[in-house]
Amino acid sequence: MSDGPLIVLVGPMGSGKSTVGALLAERLGAPYRDTDADIVAAEGREISDIFIEDGEEHFRALEREAVRAAVAGHTGVLALGGGAVLDAGTRELLAGRPVVYLSMDVEEAVRRVGLNTARPLLAVNPRRQWRELMEARRHLYTEVARVVVATDDKTPEEVAEAVLDALELQK
Ligand code: S3P
Repeated sequence: MSDGPLIVLVGPMGSGKSTVGALLAERLGAPYRDTDADIVAAEGREISDIFIEDGEEHFRALEREAVRAAVAGHTGVLALGGGAVLDAGTRELLAGRPVVYLSMDVEEAVRRVGLNTARPLLAVNPRRQWRELMEARRHLYTEVARVVVATDDKTPEEVAEAVLDALELQK
């Protein structure tokens, strides 16, 4: 278990996993990896197309295998898609890992991603859909996380700093 990612970021879409993940990788001089990007590269199509063509269940299975490969083979910073924690097999793969939940309140979420229709799960009524999504997911993020870092009113640099502090990775 000592090999594997230095940090695994989970949290809802828009919580800054990619931006903060890239900053953390830079700070640690370690590579950055993102399971969404791994899936797009392996499948040769966008995530929204996978959802439309094959459904969410199929996407979650692809995501589980992407997480399995990444926790086994990646020793830097890893960011997961916002819904990865919905899959029990994926949650099992995260046990004992340095998982950080980047949390965000509902108003911040609507500001950051509410109008972004490229996010397939939030297209119609962002505020209500966000509440429902978080009711279904909050306990799962908390369950897999070693630490929780609130991102509201913080810059990506401040969030990265808070993550390093929380995991005691500061030099
Ligand atoms: C999803 C979040 C997305 C992506 C997919 C599903 C979700 O990742 O995996 O669109 O279910 O919340 P990001 O959190 O990186 O946007």
